[in-house]
Amino acid sequence: MCGSGTLLIEAAMIAMDLPAQIFRKRFGFQNWNNYDADLFSKIKEFRINRVRQFDGKIVGYDIDARMLNAARMNVEAAEMEDVIEIKKQDFFESKKELFPLLMVFNPPYDERISINDDDFYKKIGDTFKTHYPNTLAWLISSDLEAVKKIGLRPSRKIKLFNGKLETRFLQYEMYEGTKKVHKLEENK
Ligand SMILES: C[S@@+](CC[C@H](N)C(=O)[O-])C[C@H]1O[C@@H](n2cnc3c(N)ncnc32)[C@H](O)[C@@H]1O
Repeated sequence: MCGSGTLLIEAAMIAMDLPAQIFRKRFGFQNWNNYDADLFSKIKEFRINRVRQFDGKIVGYDIDARMLNAARMNVEAAEMEDVIEIKKQDFFESKKELFPLLMVFNPPYDERISINDDDFYKKIGDTFKTHYPNTLAWLISSDLEAVKKIGLRPSRKIKLFNGKLETRFLQYEMYEGTKKVHKLEENK
């Protein structure tokens, strides 16, 4: 559910120790009277040259062709094609392909993107349980009722605001056939 790829690109930048917005063409402070263009280009060059080697793999799935196109364009603009792969893939039909795996995603929620399927969040939980054993998943959503349908107890809950929308950033831990998943299910 990578949409236009923001989370993928930010994750790659953090992994490579690149400052946010480093590739932006123009900043407001460049209009200030005391703006020092030489100093800024030195700092920028220094940060780009000390980029950290990143050997991991970042993969984004989405089902919407327009989103996939936007994500590919954004990844290309950030020059991250070597580390980020974008795939057309329905999450509900996906299986764990990377080992170990950390998932971070923000599924659609009513305020921004309508979901026609009442069971959408239940299907996320079912996919977690059946196809993503031994995985840590972080999920961000403002649909506080829908997240309950995931059917797993989050191991961490962080309250955030996305503009005016109260939002939760929730961590789920899935283990393969261990008491943990069963315990989580018992507590539903
Ligand atoms: C809230 S948006 C994600 C926004 C994203 N963080 C960004 O930077 O643009 C949710 C995304 O989930 C995608 N989506 C919905 N159902 C999906 C499914 N079954 N499998 C994969 N992606 C899905 C939608 O196409 C949409 O792009």
